[in-house]
Amino acid sequence: MLAIIGGSGLTQLSSLEVNRREIVRTPYGEPSGALLFGRIGAQDVVFLARHGFGHTIPPHDVNYCANIAGLRQVGATRVVSVASVGGIRNDLGPGTLLVPHQIIDYTWGRKMTFHEGADSPVTHIDFTDPYDAGLRGALLDAAAAIGEPIVDGGVYAATQGPRLETAAEINRLERDGADVVGMTGMPEAALAREAGLAYAAIAVVANFAAGRGESAHGIEFATIEATLHAAMARVRGVLSRLCQAPA
Ligand code: HPA
Repeated sequence: MLAIIGGSGLTQLSSLEVNRREIVRTPYGEPSGALLFGRIGAQDVVFLARHGFGHTIPPHDVNYCANIAGLRQVGATRVVSVASVGGIRNDLGPGTLLVPHQIIDYTWGRKMTFHEGADSPVTHIDFTDPYDAGLRGALLDAAAAIGEPIVDGGVYAATQGPRLETAAEINRLERDGADVVGMTGMPEAALAREAGLAYAAIAVVANFAAGRGESAHGIEFATIEATLHAAMARVRGVLSRLCQAPA
């Protein structure tokens, strides 16, 4: 089953015909909200709003372990994450959709592994390519099939938040090789890998990152909502196409 984790601007999926809601409990606590089960096109889908349905859980407080464990518990095998980001590169302006291929993790203090505690043997995962190639390809193909422009590849910098970055921090992220910056990509991607779930993301550029483009002197929150609203309609289109055929 396909899981979709919706971020800021995507707390509901209008294309999902919901037939069941379930509150699941996991050994790591409860996910951000009830899991919504339904169908999009030819596929069974489970949807989870990462920040809760009322958008009340900030990025550093999201229980990523419970979210991933909960999705696996109900039978998800693939996870598409939708996440809003700031664009660092000057060709990645507001409204751009991008399927990242790499991650740099700058978060701290988050519970970032399932393998902890006295009973758990030391476990390492391969994370050379943090996103699943097959699922990335399927997202890119779906976008191409409906003529939706989407950028193939980019380095996602995961910052701690909830504050946005300084202009100097964005310069540093760029020197590190980052193309977009967001607050929720990690540890979500690593936990999905630990759980054996194929994971890929659609990054939705909500704003130019601090000090870039029209954010040269500050980030204008007023326009972000409208940008995300319009972009999420396009994301729904990609997801509908992704689900048009059976998995
Ligand atoms: N920085 C970090 N996370 C974000 C941003 C940003 O500029 N925009 C949306 N999520």
